[in-house]
Amino acid sequence: MKKLFLVAAIASVGMTSVATYANAGEFNTKKCKACHAIDKKKVGPAWKDVVAAYGDEATLAGVFKSGFAVADRKVVAANSKWKGKAGMMTGQYKKLIKKNPEGAAHALFETVKNGKFGKY
Ligand code: HEC
Repeated sequence: MKKLFLVAAIASVGMTSVATYANAGEFNTKKCKACHAIDKKKVGPAWKDVVAAYGDEATLAGVFKSGFAVADRKVVAANSKWKGKAGMMTGQYKKLIKKNPEGAAHALFETVKNGKFGKY
């Protein structure tokens, strides 16, 4: 019986973290703008190309949530010249995205849709 309680407790902890992601807060893309533009390459790839590579925000959120491994990055996969700069983006991921991966993915797609950086 005790074991069963433990399993239920673990399952509910897992569910809480899913719920937290579903309630992801607004995300400000202002800091991303230092290296990204919407339709041209800057330090990093154009976000229009990021949107094209991922297709929808859930896919990008999934890659963010699973740890944003370089092997899972679709822009790097589509054009290996970005691979040499992946470390730079890993630092930004840890600092700015990891705590709100769904908010970040949503904001990136909204930025491209609306044509401007900001809070989404
Ligand atoms: C210091 C510069 C810098 C900043 C700031 C920055 N990025 Fe990047 N980003 C890069 C570089 C360089 C790449 C290309 C390397 C790569 O894709 O890993 C990149 C690639 C990406 C990719 C594509 C990953 C792939 O390869 O599939 C996404 C998504 C992304 N950035 C999102 C963001 C978001 C969201 C922010 C703001 C929270 C941000 N970036 C801030 C430099 C930056």
